[in-house]
Amino acid sequence: MERTQVGIVGAGPAGLVLGRLLELEGIESVILEARSRDYVEHRIRAGVLEHDTAELLAEAGVGERMRAEGLVHEGIELRYGGVGHRIDFDALTGRHVVLYGQTEVVKDLIAARLESGAPLVFEAADVALHDVAGEPSISYVADGEERVLRCDVIAGCDGFHGVSRPAVPDLTVWEREYPFGWLGILAEVAPSTEELIYARHERGFALHSMRSPVLSRFYLQCERDADPGDWTDERIWDELRTRLALDLASGPIVEKGVTPMRSFVVEPMQSGRLFLAGDAAHIVPPTGAKGLNLAVADVRVLAAALRDHFATGDDAGLRAYSDTCLRRVWRAEHFSWWMTSMLHRFPDGAGFEEKLQRSQLEYVVGSEAAATTLAENYVGLGTAWAG
Ligand code: FAD
Ligand code: DHB
Repeated sequence: MERTQVGIVGAGPAGLVLGRLLELEGIESVILEARSRDYVEHRIRAGVLEHDTAELLAEAGVGERMRAEGLVHEGIELRYGGVGHRIDFDALTGRHVVLYGQTEVVKDLIAARLESGAPLVFEAADVALHDVAGEPSISYVADGEERVLRCDVIAGCDGFHGVSRPAVPDLTVWEREYPFGWLGILAEVAPSTEELIYARHERGFALHSMRSPVLSRFYLQCERDADPGDWTDERIWDELRTRLALDLASGPIVEKGVTPMRSFVVEPMQSGRLFLAGDAAHIVPPTGAKGLNLAVADVRVLAAALRDHFATGDDAGLRAYSDTCLRRVWRAEHFSWWMTSMLHRFPDGAGFEEKLQRSQLEYVVGSEAAATTLAENYVGLGTAWAG
């Protein structure tokens, strides 16, 4: 039987950032991760860090490589009818975002954790939560041995398919599935743009993003259950050139994957001594680049509440955890749904909906008030908004 203060399930961004913040507060934790280190370090996902997410990583002492290699972006381009329109984050909000891959964030956090010697177990099998309302514990199998970890508190940071969410009784689930997915690709080629391009096109949405001066990231709206194998390199480049209306440089495609799009929230995000964070509690469609940032925002709130709990026995923060987080979560849900609705082709959306999309885009690029709404949500609403 092992013992710790906080048992953390999952070594994605939520679990790893929480572990780091607790370590800085002198609070013990054990992180249990189902996959291997290599797997979690190479799982290609998000790339946009909100202003405050980047600041938090730097303040937590894991921002050195991000500062050196991350790309500061002070705006994005919205493109429709083949014409680009810049949304100037710096002028509208005085804030920016940082392009730095989730893979790199995860690598930096794992390196820091291993260096500090704090426990992080990879390839933990059969992870199960027990007695979350009373004396919580987590059972698991590591190196062929059955183990039990007793904890004061459990943080369920195990993503959408994890075991923590089902351990919360009486959940209310809010969900919307979209009738399309995103084909994401990573290509070894210099970006053909300095800033991200979000493009609306009659053939569907396209996004030009990047990871470094020699690595580009692209997304194409596709069928929800599309087989990446049906997308040859030639088809991908043709489609990107058409939808982005750009003279695009091409290069070897090194990764290809399809993500179905959904909005999903559970309420509450806590029960007894179990607290859910990140994708375990909510999913946004990726058009607003919010998923990773919400995960970090949740654990920022949780770490502060746990600091009070362990330092003084004050549980006000823990009691308010779910309500505090959900205020930001629902704002991000709305923003992500709104960006998705404005930029994608909906199968039944010909005619009236297309006219509305066009009008909304014209308003966003033509009105400073509307552009500011997009900009302040994209760079991230500060802690004054929620926790
Ligand atoms: P995760 O990153 O999912 O981490 C959860 C961890 O828990 C994983 O390491 C998992 O292996 C582990 N785990 C699961 N079950 C167990 C268990 N039983 N026991 C122990 N460990 C367990 N967001 C964007 O903003 N832009 C994007 O382009 C984008 N693309 C995405 C593509 C995909 C395919 C997916 C799934 C997500 C994408 N996201 C994107 C969302 C973003 O990556 C997530 O919001 C972010 O990873 C959330 O972090 P997390 O730590 O909450 O969850
Ligand atoms: C990236 C992903 C997003 O979902 C987004 O909105 C912008 C950029 C990316 O992976 O670079």
